[in-house]
Amino acid sequence: MVVTKLGMEAGMKLSRGRVVAAVAAVLIVGGWAVWHPSIAPVEGRAAFPPEQIARGAELAAVGDCGVCHTTDGSRPYASGRGVPTPFGVVYATNITSDPDTGIGKWSEAAFRRAMRDGIDREGRHLYPVLPYPHFTRATDQDIAAMYAFLMTRAPVHADAPPNQLPFPLNQRVVLAGWNLLYLSPGPWRADPAHDADWNRGAYLVEAIGHCGACHTPRNVLGAEKGGQALSGGEAENWYAPPLQAASPAREAWTVDSLATYLHTGFDAHHGAAAGPMTAVTDELAKVPAADVRAMAVYLASMMPNPAPVSVVVHDGANPVFAGACGGCHGVDAPMTRSGAPSLALSTAVNAPTPRGVIQVILRGLPWREGQAAPYMPSFASALTDGQVADLAAYLRSTYSDKPAWSDLPAEVAKIRGAS
Ligand code: HEC
Ligand code: HEC
Ligand code: HEC
Repeated sequence: MVVTKLGMEAGMKLSRGRVVAAVAAVLIVGGWAVWHPSIAPVEGRAAFPPEQIARGAELAAVGDCGVCHTTDGSRPYASGRGVPTPFGVVYATNITSDPDTGIGKWSEAAFRRAMRDGIDREGRHLYPVLPYPHFTRATDQDIAAMYAFLMTRAPVHADAPPNQLPFPLNQRVVLAGWNLLYLSPGPWRADPAHDADWNRGAYLVEAIGHCGACHTPRNVLGAEKGGQALSGGEAENWYAPPLQAASPAREAWTVDSLATYLHTGFDAHHGAAAGPMTAVTDELAKVPAADVRAMAVYLASMMPNPAPVSVVVHDGANPVFAGACGGCHGVDAPMTRSGAPSLALSTAVNAPTPRGVIQVILRGLPWREGQAAPYMPSFASALTDGQVADLAAYLRSTYSDKPAWSDLPAEVAKIRGAS
């Protein structure tokens, strides 16, 4: 069982006893109301207005449908991607219009039920890896647009591999209990205390963008903790920083810097989106600027407003840093001279956990052919665990005034072991 991956609360250790007790509780609670009717299949192809399909495509980008449901660009939405969770691997299914292996036989009502209640056309529970606890907040109109978009994707015949989950979690009926405990179905309600832009942004972040799936801490049963929305979480062993008052960002996030970061994956005052966030910003690049800006308005309203700090730029007294990193991050490096932010501005360097820094050293930032995206090589094979731990300690003491991280060698070993 992969205990360290997506969705684990920072630093939490899952004891087997706790899991078994919790699962037993869920089974008991879930003992009733587990049956849901099958929704009749639809035959043939419906036609949809082009504007509705286009809007559906934008919403699908906000909702990252393609991040999980596309593994091979030549067969979009036919998936088969295994999504790691602390409990095991759940495979994203085929959501093309193929009638046998996709959702070609699903009516709009069946699709809406999957998005709102996490129940498939035949009445079976879906795992909340599909972020339906967020999608449930989507409006009927937006769900209809996403349906129109997916039903007009080319059918691809492809079955997803079977999930790898231990008993009793492989019994979908346990999800009835999970839903009773953690799902509050129904669309988003606007907050009249705020203007239309803020509400639009809140809706896109909370409902369709499901940003909390990574940025909110989760409990032992993998549900986002109530009352701690966007207070910092984890994704595939990366640190997903708080996006509200607790943000450790060195320089305040503003509407402009958030909009730029979300739309382009890079902002000159904060740096580049790394790890699982790269796929999110790649998708948001396809979303209209006004929608991304509304999301930024909402997030900025929750961010702290620290006094500006003067960032001291040091140069490497550490030989490993000078050799491996200085060519790009050094004071005189061309990258620094042409305006790349100092490592002192990286949220990862200023975060309570070293996970983001260790991950970025081990994995770097992906090379994207034909795009002017920031690139950093992976140092996984060039550096030993000891060197990575040393470098992380060095970055922390040189570029941040926060206390030293503890247990660095253990963290490095854990992250390398899980990748
Ligand atoms: C974090 C990964 C992830 C994202 C993002 C995601 N899904 Fe999924 N989705 C899954 C997984 C995993 C399943 C299979 C769940 C299961 O087997 O219970 C699934 C199942 C589904 C199903 C049920 C299909 C079936 O055959 O039962 C639909 C419909 C669906 N997703 C639509 C969407 C749409 C629309 C979006 C974007 C708005 C989306 N998903 C975004 C992971 C994801
Ligand atoms: C699949 C997990 C995942 C999802 C979904 C996700 N994020 Fe992130 N996000 C991350 C991770 C991991 C980081 C840290 C990236 C890094 O170290 O560069 C991050 C970083 C960020 C940052 C930079 C914070 C800082 O202080 O440096 C912002 C802003 C952000 N995300 C906004 C969003 C928004 C808005 C959404 C929803 C539209 C979202 N994220 C959805 C995983 C995710
Ligand atoms: C080929 C150039 C290059 C090299 C070599 C390089 N980096 Fe980077 N690094 C980048 C770029 C580009 C970014 C993205 C811009 C940013 O976030 O500042 C980055 C970002 C980072 C970040 C911030 C990540 C985040 O999510 O906030 C850290 C930390 C980092 N690098 C550490 C290192 C360390 C340590 C080394 C040496 C082992 C190194 N880098 C070597 C190019 C490089």
